[in-house]
Amino acid sequence: MSAPLHVIILAAGQGSRMKSSLPKVLHRVAGKPMLHHVMDTSRALGAAGLHCVIGHGADQVRAITPAEDVHWALQEQQLGTGHAVAQALPGVPDNATVLVLYGDVPLTNAETLVALVSRVHDTSLGLLTVDLANPDGYGRIVRDHHGKVTAIVEQKDASDDQKTIGEVNTGILAVSASHLKRWLPQLSNSNAQGEYYLTDIIAMAAGEGITIEVAQPATEQEVQGVNNRIQLAELERWFQRSEAQRLMTEGASLADPARIDVRGSLSIGQDVLIDVNVVFEGRVTLGNNVSIGPNCVLRDADLADGVVVHANSIIEGAQIHQSAQVGPFARLRPGTVLEAGAKVGNFVETKKAHVGAGSKINHLSYVGDATLGEDVNVGAGTITCNYDGVNKFQTVLGDRVFVGSNTALVAPVTVAADAVIGAGSTITRDIEANDLAVARGKQRNIKGWQRPQKNS
Ligand code: UD1
Ligand code: CA
Repeated sequence: MSAPLHVIILAAGQGSRMKSSLPKVLHRVAGKPMLHHVMDTSRALGAAGLHCVIGHGADQVRAITPAEDVHWALQEQQLGTGHAVAQALPGVPDNATVLVLYGDVPLTNAETLVALVSRVHDTSLGLLTVDLANPDGYGRIVRDHHGKVTAIVEQKDASDDQKTIGEVNTGILAVSASHLKRWLPQLSNSNAQGEYYLTDIIAMAAGEGITIEVAQPATEQEVQGVNNRIQLAELERWFQRSEAQRLMTEGASLADPARIDVRGSLSIGQDVLIDVNVVFEGRVTLGNNVSIGPNCVLRDADLADGVVVHANSIIEGAQIHQSAQVGPFARLRPGTVLEAGAKVGNFVETKKAHVGAGSKINHLSYVGDATLGEDVNVGAGTITCNYDGVNKFQTVLGDRVFVGSNTALVAPVTVAADAVIGAGSTITRDIEANDLAVARGKQRNIKGWQRPQKNS
């Protein structure tokens, strides 16, 4: 039986270089707090235990982290990475494999970590290292003349010779809990920073004849930590570039791969066109031949094959069926369903609106809490008056209803199939099938009208 995996995430540091009242690990990459990226990756590894060491901003971290499965360990004083791991260790069973991750290193791939954990046995531990052109500031990996890792030396404790080593410690390692429980109490803080270094366990392991097995990530961004907002932005751009490349590989044409942002999960069909400055949030799916114009925001939406979204449209919580068209300048709010071939045009807002196949709301309208049948035509300036200041009410328009321009539909109201509403009407009563309703002041034309004269 293989050992259960327990992940310990260090997230107690202050992050003073962020210059922020928000704890560093809550700053977002791709719309998600860095710490939550690390937690999601840990869950993807099938961790049996998820332990998070918090200190600075602990209450804020706990408050925004939905985490029934997380064991919190409070580190009151940040006495070093070894001390931090020790705070979580009492909650970890002796037979576990421990993987140490960091709340400010958000984008490590699960595959990289699986490879690292696979190196852990009774007589070996796994250490994730990376070769850097500029290793400044990092702990250096010290190897003997056989190439075996013997120690990690922190930059501030390193000799000039050791400072030339380009292989550095990412901080991420995996090791049996039983070894950790033996080694951590032996750490001392007699070093340049007066801290209990987790890294000192490497020399202890080597001294006991335990092999340090090294794994490396596919790219250095995977192990890049964030200390300031410049690094945060660099990691964000790297992530977005990777997403853009994935989308192009899967069949999307991007007008500019540098001008798309995916903050959530976006899945696509083939021959998708995405123009510049489009932001995707939450869970979005795009079918084949979907086209998205410039400057659109889509959040939690499903767009079926052939849907066209024109420029400057905002879509949230909507289901859009085949070949429907949206925008330009449309706002679809949660609960909007557009059936096949429906059209919602410029300066139209919808909310909890079911728009039947082939129906059109082409200009300047608000349609909320409404059900429209098929081939309904809603004229410009139509408003569903769905709210009396206290409650919301429904508007129902049957198949082929024609709503003249500038109509107010005072809900609750039902208009049966094939009815017609004259322009400028305020509709307060139901209309039967095929009827014409006109509800507006009658026009009077006054003959010989004298225009007012200017006072002298
Ligand atoms: C650490 C490693 C170094 C490695 C580098 C990679 C040690 C001693 N050194 O150095 O070899 O190259 O990471 O980035 O481990 N933390 C706590 N509690 C503490 C101390 C730290 O939660 O008491 C957290 C911090 O919030 C931070 C992380 O651990 O997220 C790393 O701590 P930091 O002190 O920044 O270590 P480095 O000096 O970067
Ligand atoms: Ca650091």
